[in-house]
Parts: sequence; C-alpha cells; structure tokens
Amino acid sequence: MDAFVIEGGRRLEGRLRVNGAKNAALPLMAAALLTDQPLTLRDIPPLADIRNMVALLGELGCSHEAPEDGVLRLQARDESRSHARYDIVRTMRAGICVLGPLLARRGEARVSLPGGCAIGDRPIDLHLRGLVALGATVFLKGGDIIAKAPRRRLKGGRVFLGGAFGSTVLGTANVMSAAALADGQTIIESAACEPEIVDLATMLNAMGANIRGAGSPRIIVEGVRDLRGIDHTVIPDRIEAGTLMCAAAITNGSLLLENCPLDALMAVSDRLEAAGVQMKALDRHGNPSSDPIPADVDPMRVTVRVASERVLRPVEITTQPHPGFPTDLQAQLMALLTLAEGNSVITEKIFPERFLHVAELSRMGARLFRQGPTVIISGVRRLVGAPVMASDLRASASLVLAGLAAEGTTIVNRVYHLDRGYHKMEDRLASVGASVKRVDDKELAPQLVAAE
Ligand code: EPU
Repeated sequence: MDAFVIEGGRRLEGRLRVNGAKNAALPLMAAALLTDQPLTLRDIPPLADIRNMVALLGELGCSHEAPEDGVLRLQARDESRSHARYDIVRTMRAGICVLGPLLARRGEARVSLPGGCAIGDRPIDLHLRGLVALGATVFLKGGDIIAKAPRRRLKGGRVFLGGAFGSTVLGTANVMSAAALADGQTIIESAACEPEIVDLATMLNAMGANIRGAGSPRIIVEGVRDLRGIDHTVIPDRIEAGTLMCAAAITNGSLLLENCPLDALMAVSDRLEAAGVQMKALDRHGNPSSDPIPADVDPMRVTVRVASERVLRPVEITTQPHPGFPTDLQAQLMALLTLAEGNSVITEKIFPERFLHVAELSRMGARLFRQGPTVIISGVRRLVGAPVMASDLRASASLVLAGLAAEGTTIVNRVYHLDRGYHKMEDRLASVGASVKRVDDKELAPQLVAAE
C-alpha cells in the first residue's frame, strides 16, 4: 500500500489551481441516468470515487468516453438496467445518488445499501422518506433498497428533509433529481443549501428541468416530461481549496490559489482570518482587491493569496450545514489549530464521531482533549514527525497538513483514503516547496508501517 513520507518544516510558496469538486461531480454524473442524450462534464477530477461512479453507471447501461483531460461524456444507452450492486456501492457511498434518477426515469431501482463508514453512521432514511413522498414504494430485500414508482412515474409532492443533524446533501440531490421528471410540483422543505446542490440544479435546469430556490432551504420543482443532454463545467472543490489554505497557513507560507470558490467558503475564511491567516483576493487585473470578493470576478472562481507569517490565534469552530463551517474541513482546521497560541474549541455537529484524526495528531505531539462531539485543542509550539494513519479521507488530509509543519519525518500510511478526494496531492504540494514523497510501504522499515 502507498504511504507518504513527509519532511516537515518547509514553507510553501507558489501557485495552485483548485480542481473540480468531487462531491459536486458525483450527483452530476448520476444525472446522466435522467436522459438518453449525452452529458458532457468538464473539470472532472481523476479520482477513485469518480472511476467507481463511471463503473456503476456502466453497469446501469451508460457508455462513457473521456476525450480529453478532465472531460467525461456519459450517455444512457440501455435503460433496461436498474440494479446497483453491493460490490460497487460499498466502495463509494455516493453510489446512493443513482437511486433518485433511476427511479424517476426507469420507474424502478434496486440499489444496495451502502453500509457503514469510518466517519460514523450514515443512514439514508431521509432519502427514502423523500422518494416515498413522491409516490414511490420502497422496501428492503437482501441488503438492497428496492424502489418502484406507480405506473413507472413519480408524482410531485411535499417533502421535509430535515433530520437530527440538519438536512442531507445527497438526499436533497436524489429527491430533486427525481422530482425533475415527476408529474406536477414538488416542494422540498429543509433542503440542503450546499453549493453542490446549486450546481446540480443549474445543470438540470440547463437540461430542461424547472427548479427554483436551490441554495435555499426551500426548493420548488415543476416536473417535466424529458430532459436533454448538456455540456456542463463542475464547480471548483471548496474542500480542496480549504485544505490548501490550511497548507499555506500551517507552513507560514504564501499560496496563490486560482479557481477558488471563495463564495462557498465564507465560514472558512471567517475562521481562518479570526486565527490570523491573511486572505487577499485579486481583481480581474490581478491586483489585490479591498473587497473580500472583488465585484468583477466570478465569486466561485477567484484568485486569492493565502498567507500566514505568525503564530496563529486560537478560535472556536462549530461544524454546520452550509453556509456554516463544513464538516469536511474540520479535521484540517484541527491540524492547523494544534499550533495556535492558546486553546481552541471544535464542535462537530454533522458527524459527531468524525474524530479519527484526534489520536493520530496526538501521536505527533498535539494536545487534544475530546469530550463527545467537542475537542479542545491546546496549542503547542511544535509538532514532531511520526508514523500515522487514518482510515478516512479528511482525517488523512489533516495528518498530511500536520506532517508539513512537524519537525522531522512523518509517514502517513494508507494514503488511498487521501487519494479518494485529492488528486496527486504529493505532486501538488511538492510543486510549491513541500517535501512529500509517495512510497510503497514495503520500502519502509516494518515499525513505520500501519498494522492491520
Ligand atoms: N443523515 C440522516 N439521514 C439521512 C441522510 C443523512 O440522518 O437519510 C444525517 C447524517 O448521518 C449526517 C447528516 O445527516 O449526520 C448529514 O449527512 P448528509 O446526508 O448531508 O451526507 P452525505 O450527503 O451522505 C455529503 C458528502 C460528505 C459530507 C456530507 C456533509 C458527498 C459524496 N459526500 O455526504 O463528504 O461530509 O455531505 O456535508 O457529497 C467527504 O467528502 O469527505 C464527505 C464525507
């Protein structure tokens, strides 16, 4: 298995472009099931989850082509298939987002239940509740969800998607996609407001759907009979952008991030600035702007300089549904705050068990005290390199960040978790001055390799 060997203590400086968003791309890809015409998606990141989704769509009768880097063309050619099997869905929870499109277009769907996940329980009751409100019958058989639309067509309805931890992002994507082809009007109340939902609604509307209110908690969908093919560019990845911001800050570096979705990162820039990180957006001419987001540029594709020259101040962070602070950046901010001067507090309100990084950061000298969903981070002067491992994507990213700042060598084991969300992170960090090498763990001394 691959591992990263990081020699810490190097200041990052340079320019990086933020890639297209994995979490936006996955439901967009599933929308290929809503039409028999071709869907061309641009700026698709070459990640394992994307490849798994291509494979899943292939099983569901979609052909695919990748005519150039970052471009993916999908077309549903055999609409008789509707079974998303466990072997594929278990590799990627987002496989669940084929459920709504399949049901809406083919009148039936059989999708394996995704199963457990390292970041905590991942129920799908809200997805199912939403589809039932559109007239579907749903039952479980042999670990699969079997859903059917009466007379092969869903019917608009009122859907409430709020749960104990807020709304559901992929559940909203599922219900909104299904409602696009249902008979009549659907009102989704307590919809997720995440930018990935806005991107999906934008693309579906360009395909001929009639969706209003995406990005707010109330989405209204007037169902249409058919959707057509489209050419769509996916939004940049706000979580990758936030991770790179932390990389600049934790190394006291200075990174110029291009294609940065600052408009979707207000809660993150607020916390980073409160901690003392400097953020400066550039205007259309490349000059530093006095506005947080200059009026003359696309707010989702800003060029911004992120820099830090000092020891950071401690801050309090609570993760929340968008536009609050994203759970997918909680682990990375924790790594950063381990080196702040004083006590920070992080409370996780979306996935209260999402703390796989806590024990590993502690092995590097961080002082962390967890009580339930809250961690107190007592800043230390330095982190010390160590062999570490985390079995989830964002936790792994936080360990890489810690390794960049730590004294000595950090080995991050099992980087396949990281590879699920970040394309060639080692090359990108090395291009701005980090010392990060990918190695096969067979090349490492046995005591540095994570045990089973
Ligand atoms: N929830 C329910 N019932 C449901 C669905 C969700 O109770 O039917 C709960 C979850 O247990 C959680 C909360 O609602 O407490 C939010 O979960 P959500 O459904 O919004 O998560 P998701 O849609 O499955 C997406 C991202 C995650 C990200 C979450 C929250 C994708 C592919 N995944 O998951 O991304 O953490 O939204 O923003 O879009 C990641 O990229 O590392 C990642 C895990």
